[in-house]
Amino acid sequence: MPASERSERPSERRAATRTAVVWADLREVLDSPGDVLDIGGGTGGFAVRVAGLGHRVSVIDPSPDALAALDRRAQESGVADRVTGQQGDLSSLLDVVPAASVDVVLCHGVLEYVDDPAAALATIGEVLRPGGTLSLLVAQRHAAVVARAMAGHFAQARALLDPTPGVGKAGRRFTHDEVTTLLSDAGFTPASVHGVRVFADLVPGSLLDLEPGASQALVELEQAVATRPEYLPLATQVHVVAHR
Ligand SMILES: C[S@@+](CC[C@H](N)C(=O)[O-])C[C@H]1O[C@@H](n2cnc3c(N)ncnc32)[C@H](O)[C@@H]1O
Repeated sequence: MPASERSERPSERRAATRTAVVWADLREVLDSPGDVLDIGGGTGGFAVRVAGLGHRVSVIDPSPDALAALDRRAQESGVADRVTGQQGDLSSLLDVVPAASVDVVLCHGVLEYVDDPAAALATIGEVLRPGGTLSLLVAQRHAAVVARAMAGHFAQARALLDPTPGVGKAGRRFTHDEVTTLLSDAGFTPASVHGVRVFADLVPGSLLDLEPGASQALVELEQAVATRPEYLPLATQVHVVAHR
């Protein structure tokens, strides 16, 4: 097993296979220290690591429990001076974040749960400085249909085939075309689109734990297919980097 894998816990190795593509995109965006807003940043899985790169990160999330976990994680990682957590949500973002005050917004796994995705993206556009960047990560519909069907939940799979007007229990799913149209309508110019977790959710965790080098090989495979359009419908998530 490579030394890098021996030093990580199995849960960390699995998380790395799920987020490697997003981190590769983010590293290009976060090249010089700036003001980053992580809307719906939850317990800080991304925010704390971004602060570790030298950025000032503000996390807005409706969950007080998540914000408490964020504080602990930031303390443990020695970046508490660069991470602030505040209770709030996308619908009232402009009440707590001044317009045109942020260089980069992370919106990862959140658009699925808002009442009005178009209005949410317009609000994000307002808090970004001109030329600012949005990192948008959303659940992808086609992969969700396949996952439901493979689990034997055929009625759920069928219900997911088409967009629904409401949020629903499991949140919304988006196709690549839907998400890029939403972004364009909100005044963003998509710069890159990557498929995320094309294979990572299909591989048994035990294989990654037992097979030496498997996690690293899976990360390399995920990176190799992330830009191939033919694999995009199989990706659990779509990551779009877009500029204002
Ligand atoms: C799936 S978690 C994603 C957490 C984090 N962004 C990540 O990628 O690890 C969804 C997060 O969105 C938050 N959330 C739900 N509705 C929201 C809203 N309307 N505005 C902002 N955040 C919201 C939840 O509290 C939760 O922390």
